[in-house]
Order: sequence, then structure tokens, then C-alpha cells
Amino acid sequence: MNLNGIKLTWLGHATFRMETPGGRIIIIDPWVMGNPKCPDAEKKMKQVDVLLCTHGHFDHIGDTVEIAKQHNPLVVGIPELCHWLGSKGVKQLAEMNKGGTQTVGDIKVTMVHAVHSCGISDGDQIVYGGEACGYVIEFSNGIKIYHAGDTNVFSDMQIIRDLYAPEIAMLPIGDHYTMSPREAAYACNLLKPKAVIPMHFGTFPILTGTPGELQKLVPGVEVVEMKPGQTVS
Ligand code: NI
Ligand code: MN
Repeated sequence: MNLNGIKLTWLGHATFRMETPGGRIIIIDPWVMGNPKCPDAEKKMKQVDVLLCTHGHFDHIGDTVEIAKQHNPLVVGIPELCHWLGSKGVKQLAEMNKGGTQTVGDIKVTMVHAVHSCGISDGDQIVYGGEACGYVIEFSNGIKIYHAGDTNVFSDMQIIRDLYAPEIAMLPIGDHYTMSPREAAYACNLLKPKAVIPMHFGTFPILTGTPGELQKLVPGVEVVEMKPGQTVS
């Protein structure tokens, strides 16, 4: 996997920190304090410039409001989710919807489809959070990374391939709530990435999919098994 100056750290589950070649810090799906796989040393963040939120489930937006209050990053999400975050005190919202691309900091972000739900737990209520999504992120060095969010496989992944051609795909493989390795292998056939970073597995016992199972099913794709807290660059 060639990242050409991007530093990529897995914080466990679906949470990633990426340092751009220009030194900006992007966090996808910020769930750290309650995330059983996030190393303690990673829970206190020094700098956050952009937050990308795929959907409103707690294991994806869990620390969004706290991090936004501390670091005042640009927060990207679907409008209904951004509206809710705004009501909780998040200041810099960069809402968007599926299709179209916006520049945030020094990355270009395209919101793409995901097949999943998006209710936000707010006290004892579940609030409508719009729809779940994924993101294609294009860095200034030309590298494109697709973070699928929580999703099943869907045939429009072919469109993501045709339009954006991400060379790296972060795919959920846990086999409960999201794709299993079998479905993620089908997703690889549609997306044709050079490398896949499996995520959303092993956090809880119920998320049983493993990177090894996926690798067996896609021998031509580099399956990059990261450890929580590990950085690749
Ligand atoms: Ni979810
Ligand atoms: Mn999830």
C-alpha cells in the first residue's frame, strides 16, 4: 500500500486518523472514549482539523461533539445529522449529501451511498439522522481512499469504482450489522481497489469476521491488517 506522504492510523472499529501531506489532521467516525479497541494514548487528541461522520450511530459519532468543542474542526455529514450536531453545540458544519464533492481543509470529499440505517440515540429517543453514507477522500498527492462506513455490499459500488477509482478501500467485515468477509470480497470485485483495510470487526465478540477470511477470498488484493493504534505511511 503506497500512501505517498499520508500517515494513516487506525484507532479501532471504524475510526481512523489521517495526517495529510500538508499536516492537517482528519478523523473519520470519531469514537474513542467508549471504543474498547482505542489505545488510551490515542484518546487525547492534540489537533483535529476535519471530522467526517458516516452516520449517526454511537459507535461512529460518539465523540464528535466533545472533539468539536475542543478543536473546532470542520465537521462533514449528511444534513439531518449536521443539524442534530449543531443543536448540540458543534459550530463549523460542512453538510453535504450523496453526490458532489467539496473541499475541506486540503482534501476533497465526496459523499457516496451506503446501505445501512442512521438513527441517532439522544437520551431515550432515537432521532432521525438522514441516511448512512460513505466517503471518497482525495488527497493533494492524488491518492483516493474510500471509507465505506457501515454498509452491506451494493451494486452501486461499481459506480464508485467507475467515477472515483479509489486505490484504497476501508471496508467493514464484522458480519453483524455490516458486511461479512464474503460480502466484502464481492465489494472488492466491484471496487477493484489495490488495497483493502478491514474495519468494524473484533470490537465486540459478535463482530466475528477476520481479515484472514477476506484475504483468502481476494487473493489478488492486498488486505492490510492493522492493529489499533498502528500507523502506516
Ligand atoms: Ni451503524
Ligand atoms: Mn457501526
